[in-house]
This record gives sequence, C-alpha cells and structure tokens, in this order.
Amino acid sequence: MKREYLCEWILVFVVFIIVNIPVLALNNGLALTPPMGWLSWERFRCNVDCKKYPKDCISEELFIEMADRIVSDGFKDAGYEYINIDDCWMKQEREPDGRLEPDPERFPHGIKFLADYMHSKGLKLGIYQDFGTYTCMGYPGIVNYMEQDAKTFAEWGVDMLKLDGCHSHPKDMDKGYILMGNHLNHTGHRMVYSCSWPFYQLHIGMEPNYALISKHCNLWRNFDDIQDSWDSIQKIIDFYGDNQEVMAPHAGPGHWNDPDMIIIGNYGLSYDQAKAQMAVWAVLAAPLLMSNDLRNLHAEFKDILQNKGVIAVNQDPLGIQGKRIFKKERIEIWRKPITPIIHGYHSFALLFLNRRTDGTPTQVKTAANELGLLNPSGYHVVDLFDGGDYGIVAPADHLSVMVNPTGVTIVKATALK
Ligand SMILES: *[C@@H]1O[C@H](CO)[C@@H](O)[C@H](O)[C@H]1NC(C)=O
Repeated sequence: MKREYLCEWILVFVVFIIVNIPVLALNNGLALTPPMGWLSWERFRCNVDCKKYPKDCISEELFIEMADRIVSDGFKDAGYEYINIDDCWMKQEREPDGRLEPDPERFPHGIKFLADYMHSKGLKLGIYQDFGTYTCMGYPGIVNYMEQDAKTFAEWGVDMLKLDGCHSHPKDMDKGYILMGNHLNHTGHRMVYSCSWPFYQLHIGMEPNYALISKHCNLWRNFDDIQDSWDSIQKIIDFYGDNQEVMAPHAGPGHWNDPDMIIIGNYGLSYDQAKAQMAVWAVLAAPLLMSNDLRNLHAEFKDILQNKGVIAVNQDPLGIQGKRIFKKERIEIWRKPITPIIHGYHSFALLFLNRRTDGTPTQVKTAANELGLLNPSGYHVVDLFDGGDYGIVAPADHLSVMVNPTGVTIVKATALK
C-alpha cells in the first residue's frame, strides 16, 4: 500500500518536472529574414601563410578589408551585414585554462577588437567552431568546452556562430547541437546559430529531424560544401529540388535551409551562371553569405549581388522557401510565394532556369494558371534583372520568357487589386 502510494507520487513528480522544463526552443528573435553577409571559407579557405600571401591569408586584416568594402561599395546598403570568420582563426592549442584564443600573429588585436570594429561600422561579426574534437582543419573543437566557448564568444561580442561537424559522431548531434544552443542562450548575448547538423547526419545515412533542427538553429547546412563551379551549383539545385517536400516546410522567419555560400565574382561562374545562383538562392530563401574577394570584383558581378529586386525576393517577410514546379528537357520553373497578398492571392517570384548548353536562348511559354497565377484581377509581371515589363498577366493568359543557356530569367508577378 505504502509502496503503491510512493510510486504514484513519483509518477506525479516526474510529470511535474517534464511539463515544467523550460522550453529552450530557439526563440532568439534573430534571422527573421535570411542572414546576408560575407564568409571567408569558399574563397580564402585555410590560408594561414601571411608572409607569402599577406592579402589572402585568414587574418584580422582580411576581415577588416572586407568590412570596409561592404560599407564603401554599397553592400551594406543592399542588406549585407554579417562579416563571418570560418575555420583556421584559432591558435593550435587552447590556453591552459581551456580558453580559445585566435592566432596571435594573424589576429594581433584579438576577436573582441574585430567585433567592436564591425559594430562601429554598423556590421556584425560571425565566428566558427566545430561540434567535434577538432575543427575540419585540425584546430581545437568544442568537445568538453561548450559552455566555456559560448561564454567566450559572448564576451567578445560575436553575433553569429557557425558550428561545423567534423571529427564528431552525427548520432550525438540531436542532443549536442541543442545543448550548445542552450549554452549560447544562457550567455544572454544573442547570436545567430548556424548548424551543420543535418549535413553530417545525411552523410552517414541518417534522416535528420528537421522539425527539431528548425527549433534549435537559425540556419543549417544540408548538402556538400559549395565549390567554384557551375557543376557544384547544379548539384545543390538538384538536391534542393529533389528534397523540397522534406526540407522546405521547415524554412521560415528565424530558421532557414542553407545551400551554402554565394560564389559570384570568383573564377568559376559566367555572367549568366552568376545570375542563376543569385536568383535560385533568392527563391530558396537562402542565407546570402558571399565568399569572394570584394577588393577585386567586376562591376557586373557587383550589380548582380546588389540587385534590389532579387534581394527583396530573398528577404520577403513571409520567409517561404520556393519550390521547383516544373522540370523537363533541362528547363526548370521555380516559384516562391511572396508579398503582397491580395484577396488571399499571393504574389510570386517565378524563376525560369535553362540548364541546356545549346548556345542560344530558349523560349519558355507557360499558361499563367499552370504557374499558379489564379488571381482574377491578374498580376503585373516584371523582369527582375533587366526591368523588362510583361504588362498585366491574367489567369487565362500565357507568359512567354526567353532564357539564356546555363542561365535564368526571374520575374516578379505582383497580384493586383
Ligand atoms: C533564450 O531563450 C528564451 C526562450 O526561448 C528567449 O526568450 C530568449 O530571447 C533567448 N535569449 C537569447 C540570448 O538567445
């Protein structure tokens, strides 16, 4: 009798504890639209030889020079804000008390100095760590130091953390990434939290729990690192199209799928391919983190990166990830619902992607109602890259666009009253 009573009491107590655990779901108020900025990895990698490559090595000078360009060349006005350090910023070992420090030769003034510098320019600083024993390039990882590193980043005034996943067990990530998020939260200093959690799980054949991930991360990588080629861009586009029913529902204000950096202005993409990356990333509501050399950027690439209409599609407040709605003979159509919504009808960004290489633009002609343009009052359709005006398109009309080989045409169809 007594025993049973005790059991019951324990049960009540357990239930009490469970329902009273504070919900530490990610609710940091950050990244309500996809974060925009610059990240060192794709373009500058792990170049630590500042004697031989003073302008290209991972050093405080590199981040300061990029920040200065972001401000002076119009990127900040276009919305780019985060200046993010990737791997290879640390000393090879932690301090005797466990604290992380940057390499003293390449970051002589320390990370707090860099964060203060960014803040003085109206920008933000991001940093990189790894969920495992080491970072991908062999610097000290976060294992056993989660709480300390969270505090250190907060003390430095860092605004964003990319937590990579090399040298770790992806099965530990469902618990570990949440734990680190909680440590970040407990610092009281708000930081955008970028996770590599689903990528490493997919890599070993696990199915990521996107509902859980989107509760605990502001953005997350799903697929391979981007490389400097059209081939790499196409693989990412295919992955996002083929897996859109699984991934897209979890994107929204504060939580985004991250197809990796913008590589426009580097060596690998033609002018049309660069427009294609910008437009597809906009339609995917992807973070726009450029990895390029802003000190050596052709004007035509700068114009693509600063295209107001395409950026507005990416930054649309609804935060809906666009989807591929048509794919045939190497022509694809992607569609992202955006504002304004008129009488219940969304406006749309419509992206026509031509992956053919047969040397001349292809005409793509579609019935407006098949594109989802169902508003009886019609839509005003405008090309976002060349400003071309298609006039008013009603559901019974057709929309016909020309699309360059390995390129895109992206239009905005604004629902009319
Ligand atoms: C911590 O989490 C709580 C609960 O979700 C949230 O209200 C708060 O803004 C978060 N604080 C930081 C610093 O992220």
